[in-house]
Amino acid sequence: MTGTSPVRPVSRRGLLTGGALAVGGAVAGGATIAATRAGQSGPPAASAADATLAATVGGLVEPFHGTRQAGVATEPQAHAAFVAFTLRAGTDRAALGRMLRLLTDDAARLTRGQPALADTEAELGLLPARLTVTFGFGPGLYRAAGVDDRRPTSVADLPSFRVDRLQPAWSGGDLLVQICADDAITVAHAQRVLIKDSRPFATVRWVQQGFRRSPGVEPGGHTQRNLFGQLDGTANPRPGTPLDTALWVPDGPAWLRDSTTVVVRRISMNMETWDLLGRADRELAVGRRLDTGAPLTGTAEHDEPDFAATDADGLTVIPDFSHLTRAHVTDDRLKILRRPYNYDGAPTADGHADSGLIFASYQADIARQFLPIQRRLADRDLLNEWTTPIGSAVFAIPPGCPPDGWIGQQVLG
Ligand code: HEM
Repeated sequence: MTGTSPVRPVSRRGLLTGGALAVGGAVAGGATIAATRAGQSGPPAASAADATLAATVGGLVEPFHGTRQAGVATEPQAHAAFVAFTLRAGTDRAALGRMLRLLTDDAARLTRGQPALADTEAELGLLPARLTVTFGFGPGLYRAAGVDDRRPTSVADLPSFRVDRLQPAWSGGDLLVQICADDAITVAHAQRVLIKDSRPFATVRWVQQGFRRSPGVEPGGHTQRNLFGQLDGTANPRPGTPLDTALWVPDGPAWLRDSTTVVVRRISMNMETWDLLGRADRELAVGRRLDTGAPLTGTAEHDEPDFAATDADGLTVIPDFSHLTRAHVTDDRLKILRRPYNYDGAPTADGHADSGLIFASYQADIARQFLPIQRRLADRDLLNEWTTPIGSAVFAIPPGCPPDGWIGQQVLG
């Protein structure tokens, strides 16, 4: 922004050094500034156009506050940015508290459809489009804060797998800010605001932006497709099913209860060699049909796969090394929730794609749930022929917070 801005500049540093009360006071001022900047006489959400707005995708709000963080069990939005930070030297427990108060406050505002504190593009804050902002803590954050005893034990670097070709540029991180919304501009704006908030405390380590089907392009309840054309998400636990026990830590101290964990793997998909496969081979690699997503032993997407069924030659209809067979989990408590996003970078000069999956998996315990599946897949999965993990990171997703609290309070407070 230029120096001609009519907005009274608000010094973030001044706020940050002032502690919780100062931050709380300045927040109210910031909203007024932002509303004035947007050319409005009152809070943006109070305009006469509210009723119309609420009827659009842009006006839809996902609650930010609650015992559990939003953006995990939330029906996946169309766009996502996963932003990982490295804490600056000296960002200790107190500084982390200041940072997370700021981040929580701005995230809560934006998810309500209100501009952030001293928002320089206030108009971009008015359409939340189901915005969720989810915070994740990497192992380094617990160390920096001196609270390693509050780190969920499974939140630690993953072992390396035979298939891994991990690049530092897509791996690790002390803090994750996962931003999801049904609109790409809303995500971009939230990303900008939250990165600005973080600057005094942390540097950006990596950003991964991804997408799924846009709202309205097909009737609700459809499983999205990845860039291999496969229905991706069929066997996910559904809300109201054993999802809860597999996903959230049910008890324990306040910093652990209602928390979960996320594994973010960037998996490149080799579109060129996949193109060489016939349709039948593509279906054998996964064990499901491309059109309906049905298992090769069934006719409808949600039919139970029959792993014992054999064909005329005595071979299993669903190959033993298919992705489905290797990834399948029968015990509901050991399931993971996959919430993947497609990525599609710029192709090379001779037209080779840079496509893949930002594979995000949520589970109460990484060691008990994610690792056994990942080990089986790394060991033998036909899909490995066309997919390569190039990034990997793990984070605890601490519990949510009430309107007068902040994310991380139970861990750092
Ligand atoms: C680019 C990489 C990957 C692609 C393209 C892919 C694709 C698929 C597809 C098409 C299905 C079948 C439909 C469904 O239930 O969603 C599936 C199922 C599954 N995938 Fe993946 N996947 C990938 C990586 C992974 C990874 C890294 C894991 C975990 C470590 C994983 C775990 C699972 C699980 C648990 C299922 C459900 C199996 C069942 O119980 O039926 N996938 N995946």
